[in-house]
Amino acid sequence: MKIVVIGGTGLIGSKLVEKLRKDGHEPLAASPESGVNAVTGEGLAEALDGAQVVVDVANAPVWDDAAVLEFFQASSRNLLAVETAAGVGHHVTLSVVGTDRLPESGYLRAKLAQEELVKAGPVPYTIVRATQFFEFIGRIADSGTDGDTVRLSPALVQPEAADDVVSTLADVAVGAPLNDTVELGGPEAFPLDELARRFLDANGDPRQVTADVHARYFGAELDDRSLTPGDDARIAPTRFEDWLSQSAK
Ligand SMILES: NC(=O)c1ccc[n+]([C@@H]2O[C@H](COP(=O)([O-])OP(=O)(O)OC[C@H]3O[C@@H](n4cnc5c(N)ncnc54)[C@H](OP(=O)(O)O)[C@@H]3O)[C@@H](O)[C@H]2O)c1
Repeated sequence: MKIVVIGGTGLIGSKLVEKLRKDGHEPLAASPESGVNAVTGEGLAEALDGAQVVVDVANAPVWDDAAVLEFFQASSRNLLAVETAAGVGHHVTLSVVGTDRLPESGYLRAKLAQEELVKAGPVPYTIVRATQFFEFIGRIADSGTDGDTVRLSPALVQPEAADDVVSTLADVAVGAPLNDTVELGGPEAFPLDELARRFLDANGDPRQVTADVHARYFGAELDDRSLTPGDDARIAPTRFEDWLSQSAK
């Protein structure tokens, strides 16, 4: 089965392409690097020719409110139009758990707009909402850094390994479209400040992490329900400590 992975050179995309190939499918990694730009539409028709499935795991290069909204809206509109013309039967989008609960975040507003276009569009779809990737914790810490201090919310998060997200996406991509949203979360919940502290300590990073209930997560204040998945979520198997012991410097 030909499966086009939009954003196929990124963290999730490159792992997904590898996994789909190993599983005997024909993945095509599509991104600006390979001449396919979902925002301008360049190269899309050629890339999607003969494809049965498109998995959109692209991410915006710039995250200010207007730019990120424009990225996810323009790319989704272009993809859905070209998929319709190419007869693609399943559009899979990777989104974020809590997207509809944090309108103060420009990034999550843009992800919600992306989801809404997909749901209203003509192509059968599945939306996979994932929690924070373990691989993203460093960037979360950077976002709260001022000098040697990292201010982060102590709200609960339930992060997961990128490899586990990839397994679920591969599974969903070769299945029938659900025309619905599925959630995926990690096996354990942690206060966000504690998670970052453990990550930085394991990597020998001297920054000190301080809990602050008003610290914003990409624009939004959090509570324990903001970023944690619901009771029906699929639970990814990899535990944080196991991932950390494999990946820390
Ligand atoms: N980080 C998290 O914890 C988290 C949690 C849940 C969901 N997600 C979602 O997961 C998705 C993937 O994230 P990631 O961390 O794997 O992203 P990433 O590593 O930053 O990769 C982004 C990918 O998007 C591609 N891209 C950029 N502009 C493009 C364009 N105009 N047209 C087509 N492709 C374009 C990039 O291509 P080039 O390499 O050619 O630039 C790259 O392949 C995102 O949608 C994000 O919202 C993330």
